[in-house]
Amino acid sequence: MPKAELHIHIEGSLEPQMIFELARRNGIALPYASVQDLRSAYAFTDLQSFLDLYYQGAGVLQTEEDFCEMALAYLARAAMDNVVHAEIFFDPQTHTERGVAMQTVVRGLARACEEAQQRHGISASLILSFLRHLSEREAFATLEQALPLREHFIGVGLDSSELGHPPEKFQRVFARCRELGLHIVAHAGEEGPPAYIWQALDLLRAERIDHGVQAVHDTALMQRLAAERVPLTVCPLSNQKLQVFPDLRQHNLKALLDGGLVATANSDDPAYFGGYLNDNLLQVFAATGMGVQHAWQLAAHSFEASFAPAADKARWM
Ligand code: HPA
Ligand code: ZN
Repeated sequence: MPKAELHIHIEGSLEPQMIFELARRNGIALPYASVQDLRSAYAFTDLQSFLDLYYQGAGVLQTEEDFCEMALAYLARAAMDNVVHAEIFFDPQTHTERGVAMQTVVRGLARACEEAQQRHGISASLILSFLRHLSEREAFATLEQALPLREHFIGVGLDSSELGHPPEKFQRVFARCRELGLHIVAHAGEEGPPAYIWQALDLLRAERIDHGVQAVHDTALMQRLAAERVPLTVCPLSNQKLQVFPDLRQHNLKALLDGGLVATANSDDPAYFGGYLNDNLLQVFAATGMGVQHAWQLAAHSFEASFAPAADKARWM
């Protein structure tokens, strides 16, 4: 079925094979003997244990071409899953901290989005994501560096280590982003409590919540999310691999849909979590007994929740 993917970190689409290829090309030493050796390190106990490897993997990206190749590979793979539209997170601070220029990152990714439209007929836009383990001051500096490239991204997000870094820490920088007309999303309620989802809504004015699966522990919050049709971009295999729901049979995607929420399904970091979007759908459907009605809802929600122009949405739905 045609669908949109709204929660994908482009650095999380970097397959072990490509990490080795880029490391070789850029003369970077890796602490792994082989692709297989790297892959076997992908055994996560929580979000942080994944992030440590994810940032290490992203360290092989150096040139505009590297960023372009990575994103083209993802978009080609997504198109095979009948993804017709993707809204893609990128983490500029992971790269600018290593001395890679902001424009190297953004131009490479933006070029991939244009080329993928030509090659695969898939539309794609970029969402700049701030790293929440860093300071708000650093987020402001990142925004400043990105503004000359404003035409290339549609919104901002908030990712990385959630616990101990609540949305309120970034209230001022998100207010500035709103003034600039950027769309606002934020990771909240992946490992963090429902209070972080309330903050994302009330303090950051997030239009969508990334993950949000912890909302089920707060009845008033569930009612609000349903009433205001705030979309949740849920990532089943990510939640399983990071031990949020260690057994996929316990995943609450079906409960969220049946509770009237605008939940969507997404792959998050497919190279690390063992599956692209269709793998996520097939596995969570098999594990939780979801049916054709749920599939239809997920596809419809993915377009409703997207920031694509109304004319595109009407065409897809
Ligand atoms: N959560 C927080 N930060 C991230 C994730 C995630 O699932 N993936 C990449 N960065
Ligand atoms: Zn994510």
